[in-house]
Amino acid sequence: MPMRILHFSDIHFWRLFPGWDFYYPKRFLGLSNLLISRRRHFPKDLAESVIKAISEQTADYVLFSGDLTTMSLESEFGDAATAFAPLYDKWGENLILIPGNHDRYSPRSVRSGFYEKYFPRGFPSSGKRVFSKRLGANLSLIGFDASRPFMVRSNGFLDEALEEELNSEFIAHKESNDRIILMGHFPYSYPNGQISRWDHKLLRDEALAELISNHEPIAYLHGHKHARWCVKDPRTPSTICLNAGPAGMRSSSADKGAGWVTFDVSEEGKISELTKVHLKDNGEPFSEALKEQEGLTA
Ligand SMILES: [Fe+2]
Ligand SMILES: [Fe+2]
Repeated sequence: MPMRILHFSDIHFWRLFPGWDFYYPKRFLGLSNLLISRRRHFPKDLAESVIKAISEQTADYVLFSGDLTTMSLESEFGDAATAFAPLYDKWGENLILIPGNHDRYSPRSVRSGFYEKYFPRGFPSSGKRVFSKRLGANLSLIGFDASRPFMVRSNGFLDEALEEELNSEFIAHKESNDRIILMGHFPYSYPNGQISRWDHKLLRDEALAELISNHEPIAYLHGHKHARWCVKDPRTPSTICLNAGPAGMRSSSADKGAGWVTFDVSEEGKISELTKVHLKDNGEPFSEALKEQEGLTA
């Protein structure tokens, strides 16, 4: 019996509040961006409709790859925790989430530990950046947190220490012969025409591609770039890269509008039934096959 996985990302709850560390440069940019465009593109009722629609789906695991909030405000984490409560009620420990760069917005918000306070079952646990969790007899999830505050930019950073930790986690799983699904927030490979800007990408993403090429997880799940896609990168031909796209964004493009992806994994680790879903104007989910494209380097 294959296992079904639902993957979503980038729901971006927001509040119009500058934050107590309003002197931090990105706070001013973030609030301006929110006032000008983001609050129209991420309406709260849309995020709530998506969560309701997800709660009606059938899946063995629900994975969220980061950006619960917009500026890591305590009130935003509180809204996200309230919205996610029905998902925890249904899936419990089988709802697995990691933070994104918007959940690590400023040094003060990281120190405050709001993510850990409102998502005590979120991963990785306090002070760690890598975790793993068994999903089935021959399948494990490894996740990592490459998000950290930057003064004005929206990058992630796979520093050498994090690369080493991730490498060790893969090696620990080699002995058990597990298939691995890897989850992070940032892409390292892009479809044609959607390559990330220098101030938005994962720094040292080439090191992530090399780790993936060495350890061959069956899939890499991420979000960050607000578009739904499936790519296979020539550097990592054994791994499909899945971007769940945004869960809370309004867009005239189906692949950028609020939705998620699902797929099945067989006991042999074969992935099938790759499906992308977006909410139609009437709030009903619309599903179609998610086609694989060739991945390009940023
Ligand atoms: Fe995002
Ligand atoms: Fe992001």
